[in-house]
Amino acid sequence: MATSSMEITILEAFRLRVEKALLSLSLDLPEGFLVQVSQSADLRFGDYQSNSAMVLAKRLKQNPRALAEKLVEQIEISDLGELSIAGPGFLNLKISSSFWASRMQWLLTDPKLGVMAPKSPEMIVLDFSAPNVAKPMHVGHIRSTIIGDCLGRVARFLGHEVKTDNHIGDWGTQFGMVIWGWKNLLDQEALAEEPLSELLRIYRSVNAKCKDDEEIKNACREELVKLQGGDSENTAIWDQCVEVSKVGLQKIYTWLEVDFDHWHGESYYNDRLPAVVKSLEDTGQARESDGAICVFTSGELAPEKDPFQINRDGEWRDNPMIVRKQDGAFNYATTDIATVDYRVEEWKAEKILYVVDARQSLHFQQLFDVARRRGISATLEHVSFGTILGENRKPLKTRDGDLPQLEDVLRDAVAAARQVLEQKSGHLPEQEKEELAETIGLGSVKFTELSHHRTSDYIFDLEKMVALEGDTAPYLQYSYVRVRSIFRKLEQLPSFDQISLSLREDEEIHLSRILARFAEDLPVVLDDYRPNLLATYLLDLAKAFHSFFEACPVLKSEGEVRDSRVALCELTARVLKQGLSLLGIKVPERM
Ligand code: ARG
Repeated sequence: MATSSMEITILEAFRLRVEKALLSLSLDLPEGFLVQVSQSADLRFGDYQSNSAMVLAKRLKQNPRALAEKLVEQIEISDLGELSIAGPGFLNLKISSSFWASRMQWLLTDPKLGVMAPKSPEMIVLDFSAPNVAKPMHVGHIRSTIIGDCLGRVARFLGHEVKTDNHIGDWGTQFGMVIWGWKNLLDQEALAEEPLSELLRIYRSVNAKCKDDEEIKNACREELVKLQGGDSENTAIWDQCVEVSKVGLQKIYTWLEVDFDHWHGESYYNDRLPAVVKSLEDTGQARESDGAICVFTSGELAPEKDPFQINRDGEWRDNPMIVRKQDGAFNYATTDIATVDYRVEEWKAEKILYVVDARQSLHFQQLFDVARRRGISATLEHVSFGTILGENRKPLKTRDGDLPQLEDVLRDAVAAARQVLEQKSGHLPEQEKEELAETIGLGSVKFTELSHHRTSDYIFDLEKMVALEGDTAPYLQYSYVRVRSIFRKLEQLPSFDQISLSLREDEEIHLSRILARFAEDLPVVLDDYRPNLLATYLLDLAKAFHSFFEACPVLKSEGEVRDSRVALCELTARVLKQGLSLLGIKVPERM
């Protein structure tokens, strides 16, 4: 019997069929040989292809074309479509229109829209956003927040167990300045009104004062030492700063619909740090150097690959990771080591993803190497990203030269969306326009972020990102609205779980092909943590829908043809809505 082709993707069905046929040829398969299949980039050659006959023939020193022919004879595939051989031995599969129809029928009954459960579900911890309390959120936190949230949503939808953790910087040297500022500069009224901005104002003004006033600088240092020593007044101020900041941050996350399962900030691990350093010393990983305790190279890696060595003037030198400073204070690195231990022990993390600015790459390389030396078996990955640029192609700054804050960026985007709406949909009621501007504005910031390859820099161009034309969130949201508007004009909906589809037009087939690819493309997002693959997919889907909509009248058609087209519209709406929601983007019903 041929492998059932429902409940698995077409790609997987094809792979299994090729594999089965290969096994039946009783060849002497090389160790670790895996059948490879892919979507065809060029549709003239069919929908799917496999180069396995060629790869295998090469390794077995056989004629590739002859091997491909033998394979084609053995393979059971007529229910899916037609298989042909091209060139030196490519297998090309063209899916039949009847199979597309049955696939669409099945998708209509599947709440997961064809997405298969992962072969081995994992416990994944996602560490993202993580701004520093009282310091301005930098642009990197915008990227981290949006990318991290999206990866969490995708991983959950794929069937993994996910914990999101906001590892906020709620401990550290900045508190010396904040506490001194609190005691000397605080405006109580402003604090009550806009706590986060008041904290930020104090921080900035102390920071500026410290630059040319040694006395203030020392005073800040003393406040820090007192805090670290457990002084009750300073601890109370610190506590208040953290609380106030959390409330302010939560407001932004609520607005963005970004959720964290935990907020175990850096301070959460304070009690564990002495033991971490002791164990590093006891196992010989760390030792004293100039009064500090440092981790040095293990000597196991080639110097070019060793984050504990650095090349200066042609010579390799130590590049240690400090885990206890000369003054006895623990730091960011120590906390991160304790955090790995905690997540693995308490949460049974199998994978920890750090969605953090590329500039911290060395820190994470060192952290991961320390974890490896400590025998941590979880996979740790730094999901890094580039910089958001202004129109001058330099890192985005505000007019005052500060790093823009997430909240301001979002506000600007909502205002820009509102302007577009005034032009295009001025007639809508005020309240609705306001809600729409939020949906479109926030969606635009998210989509711009997620549609770029995360490691590349991109230019933040408000006008472009809220435009209805182009590869934008509003374009996708509008596509959804267009599909839904068809439903409003229908007197009666077919019952989707009983419907039998018939597809004739090329545009119907193409739309079906793209709809079926959702289940194939989504898991790839997690392979290299690339939400832009999902963004691109959704743009392809919207384009396929628009072509279909131009070529194939829905409301004016009749009978089975009409039912089939309505069904394709329904699936398009479901996949668009689901896909956008995995990017953290909402869809309006009209706009
Ligand atoms: N608070 C850090 C920063 O603002 C980011 C923390 C990232 N997470 C971590 N576990 N190190 O740069």
